[in-house]
Amino acid sequence: MDDKDKRKILIIDDEKSILESIKILLKFEGYDIFTAESVNYAKKLIGENSFSLIITDVKMPESSGIDFLKYFKVERADLNSKYIPVILMTAYSDVKTGIEAVKAGAYDYIPKPFDNEEFKLIIKRALDYFSVYEELSSLKAARPAAGGIIGESNAVRNVLNEIPRVSLSSGTVLITGESGTGKELAARLIHEIYSKNLSGRTDIPFVPVNLAAIPENLVESELFGYLRGAFTGAEKDKMGMIKYADGGVLFLDEIGDLPLQVQVKLLRVLQEKVYRKLGSNKEESVMIKIIAATNKDLEKLISEGKFREDLYYRLNAVNIRMPSLREHKEDISALASYFIKKFSKNINSISPQALAVLMNYSYSGNVRELENIVERACIYCGGDSASGGTKEIGAECLPDYVFRENKIERKAAPYAAEKENGTGSSAAGGGDYLSKIAGIFDAINRERGLSLPDFIKNIERSIAAGRADKENSRVEAARSLGLSLRSLRYILSKNNNKNER
Ligand SMILES: Nc1ncnc2c1ncn2[C@@H]1O[C@H](COP(=O)(O)OP(=O)(O)OP(=O)(O)O)[C@@H](O)[C@H]1O
Ligand SMILES: [Mg+2]
Repeated sequence: MDDKDKRKILIIDDEKSILESIKILLKFEGYDIFTAESVNYAKKLIGENSFSLIITDVKMPESSGIDFLKYFKVERADLNSKYIPVILMTAYSDVKTGIEAVKAGAYDYIPKPFDNEEFKLIIKRALDYFSVYEELSSLKAARPAAGGIIGESNAVRNVLNEIPRVSLSSGTVLITGESGTGKELAARLIHEIYSKNLSGRTDIPFVPVNLAAIPENLVESELFGYLRGAFTGAEKDKMGMIKYADGGVLFLDEIGDLPLQVQVKLLRVLQEKVYRKLGSNKEESVMIKIIAATNKDLEKLISEGKFREDLYYRLNAVNIRMPSLREHKEDISALASYFIKKFSKNINSISPQALAVLMNYSYSGNVRELENIVERACIYCGGDSASGGTKEIGAECLPDYVFRENKIERKAAPYAAEKENGTGSSAAGGGDYLSKIAGIFDAINRERGLSLPDFIKNIERSIAAGRADKENSRVEAARSLGLSLRSLRYILSKNNNKNER
């Protein structure tokens, strides 16, 4: 990594030895560490550098870490300090100060002396949090999309740079890419540019044909048309799609599904710009630009004898490859915000937590899948109705499976949600276990008069304690429960015995 790309972290502590030991601890983690022995010096440094994270001691001679925190969050709003995490280092016994700090806007607190691994993990989490803010701010700056294709990543830019070049002539274009990557969107943009260039108009035909959707025996007549009596049932002449597209663009979607016997005829259209209707012995000429698309591996189809090599080379002379969403995750925030605008009038943003979940999810259906998730979230959050609903898509609006996808995400999301709203649960889940729990509560409530809040507290504590015993460290226990370390400690510190009568 280039030095200028390194995350800058500021550590504030009046004890030189602490600054040194943190520096050594973080030396190999690839951060750019700045240190300040006083709050005053720290105030100077924050004006000169943009930090991704600040870690400060609480007790210092002239001015405390809490004072710095308040100054930073309130008086330096110009530095977007709201989004820059500040972690406080407190004395081990001083949990109260830690809680006060969090209330004053600290991201977290860590008691001294700390466990090195725990310290690194907290830093990593805080920086992940900061990255989401960066995503959100880059999203605001996102430029309008060309032809509805959103993306500022290199992967998408490359495609957008290629498109004009292949749109100026009537030459054939093959668009490849996984399902949902925007192949049709790209085809439509090519059509738009081609027609403007051709005639200054945009109304030349764009005729999409989904070859996967047409029964194999009908493909030929759909494409080429037929004369009356060409076959039984052909009661009158029919114009084929190729003729409809004359003077414009024929978009052959799912070209990998084109039956072999039709492939040779298509090749003739590509090479000679002529075709023959079924039942006719007269060749007709057409002026069309053909754009073909596929999510299949045509070379593999060739090796299996299902696709003609000559047609492939003819089609593939100009190829646009649409990147999978895995290759441009950095566009997820801009895409999400674009889809929010598309699907909801009320909702106007997405929470950093929900965005973090979306960014961690692995999309088999690419942009289309992301679009569906956002659409569902807009409906789920009530943002599509005029009656209000939330203004923001929070993690709780997202479907369960995006959390379940892999370990990290499932843990990250409820943790994040807990930070934001004080609720750790990502979803209500099935009713089955809920009714069982309700039954248990009813019994205990009747027998011992235990109140609902105490019942919940007891369950929380019992689960937390059990997990803390089982896992190797409290950090892991907290992660596995989807809690911050701070919350886990808090839960464990609560005395549950007094709650039961
Ligand atoms: N970069 C993008 N910006 C905005 N919307 C996009 C982008 N890529 C895809 N989409 C949207 O995702 C959906 C799927 O796109 P499209 O139909 O073009 O994909 P495809 O590659 O043709 O998929 P398939 O192979 O399944 O036919 C559409 O609603 C499209 O508008
Ligand atoms: Mg498509």
